[in-house]
Amino acid sequence: MQPVEPHLFVIFGATGDLTSRKLIPSIYRVLTEDGVVAAHNLLGVSRSEISDDGFRRQTNEALHNAGYDGSAVEDWCQRRVFYEATPAGTTDFENLRARIEQIESDLGLPGNRIFYLALPPGAFPSVIEQLGQAGLASGPGWTRLVVEKPFGHDLATARELNTHIHSYFDEQQVYRIDHYLGKETVQNLLAFRFANLLFESAWNRDRVESIEITVAESLGTEGRAGYYENSGVLRDMVQNHLTQLLSLIAMEAPNAFEADDIRGEKVDVLEAILPIDIDQVVYGQYVAGSIDGQPVPGYRDDPDVADASQTPTFVAMRLSIANWRWEGVPVFLRSGKRLPHKTTQIAVTFRRPPVCIFHGVKDECALHQNVVVITLQPNEGFEIRFDVKAPGSPLRLLSQPLHFDYDEAFQKIPDAYQTLILDVMEGDQTLFVRSDEVEASWALYTPLLEASDIEVLPYPAGSWGPDVVDERLGLVGEWVMRDI
Ligand SMILES: NC(=O)c1ccc[n+]([C@@H]2O[C@H](COP(=O)([O-])OP(=O)(O)OC[C@H]3O[C@@H](n4cnc5c(N)ncnc54)[C@H](OP(=O)(O)O)[C@@H]3O)[C@@H](O)[C@H]2O)c1
Repeated sequence: MQPVEPHLFVIFGATGDLTSRKLIPSIYRVLTEDGVVAAHNLLGVSRSEISDDGFRRQTNEALHNAGYDGSAVEDWCQRRVFYEATPAGTTDFENLRARIEQIESDLGLPGNRIFYLALPPGAFPSVIEQLGQAGLASGPGWTRLVVEKPFGHDLATARELNTHIHSYFDEQQVYRIDHYLGKETVQNLLAFRFANLLFESAWNRDRVESIEITVAESLGTEGRAGYYENSGVLRDMVQNHLTQLLSLIAMEAPNAFEADDIRGEKVDVLEAILPIDIDQVVYGQYVAGSIDGQPVPGYRDDPDVADASQTPTFVAMRLSIANWRWEGVPVFLRSGKRLPHKTTQIAVTFRRPPVCIFHGVKDECALHQNVVVITLQPNEGFEIRFDVKAPGSPLRLLSQPLHFDYDEAFQKIPDAYQTLILDVMEGDQTLFVRSDEVEASWALYTPLLEASDIEVLPYPAGSWGPDVVDERLGLVGEWVMRDI
């Protein structure tokens, strides 16, 4: 690990949910588990007037809720945690600059700064602009800007936000978060593919029959229906998380394990995806049903959802990647709320053997295919399914899994935010989304978002979406991911 240089970590949106639930515990984990104590100083910024002491109490409570207590926690909060209110306008950002410089001078910091925008997306532009106008986009040391998701609402707004950011910050300073990229299994996709000749040599149209990516949630909108009504599943899940998984699973080998090599290859594969055929997209919205034997209300039963809402809570689609590696291999994406289980899985199904020599066996070899299933949730790991001979006679072939489980192998794996926060401190942009990458992803889905009169089919909560999915998408056989 590279040493983290002393810096000031500034969170905008310090009074928010993300800050208390994720950022403060992850920052403290980095501090204690990754050994960057001396480097670590936190300044919370928000419009609320809560003072240093108020923010220290909030920080203490967030750490207590995450299981951290005791004198070390209190000492850190007392000596290294600060708060500044910026109610509105430019003068407040000049005050903020003065406060930052004062803290840096008091603690002997060299002027390295991280600005983390844990804000509602509507607040990103004005805070970025005011940082720039107050001369905070650069400083005596390095300055890094972390932008939470969602990054834009469609291609035009993503471009606008990129242009706005670039009028004050260089791309090398910008860290766009997609917390999926902080998960160990997502990072492991690169090791799995490019450190193992066994898989990489078979990872192409000659050997692979199809790729499936499923991100399923069993929860509904959980009090966020107001946000979800304006978002829907394409913006909430597909444009970001599923597309990140797709680009990692399908990209070419980068020249080196370096941020720009990897991100360049991801952009190339996104740009090779053909425009999505709207006839091969199925939208759904859940109605009342049951999950784990418990009755569950429908989406429109939520008081924050319009009676005639057409917001899709489910989508499945078929994509084609027009490059030498993947030509002709269908890619199936599927995501939804109120599905039977919470799970995130990628399944790569291999072609059948060219000839079946086991004539007359009960389960003919032609029925089974090798499948690599990579699971990101709930248990990070992967399995490979292959055929074995069942003991005894007559001859029978059975498909059996070979498992690898991250928890079993390594016991403790870091939380995604912990990984990403440490990377920001180290200045490693590999796991952050580059400007052209975010635009390539929006370019793919914006035609779907702009399509009028989409058909949104009902599906009962607790099912795998509308009945017509498999037929409409031309699925051969069944989804690999059904029950776990
Ligand atoms: N919460 C999560 O689990 C989660 C997960 C993934 C991504 N995110 C993303 O992370 C960001 C923050 O999420 P959150 O749930 O913490 O949001 P939030 O609670 O709605 O807002 C965070 C803070 O931003 C400040 N704020 C609100 N409106 C503002 C405005 N117009 N101008 C300036 N400040 C404003 C508020 O503090 P003051 O009123 O004190 O200024 C608020 O406490 C969002 O972009 C969200 O999409 C959140």
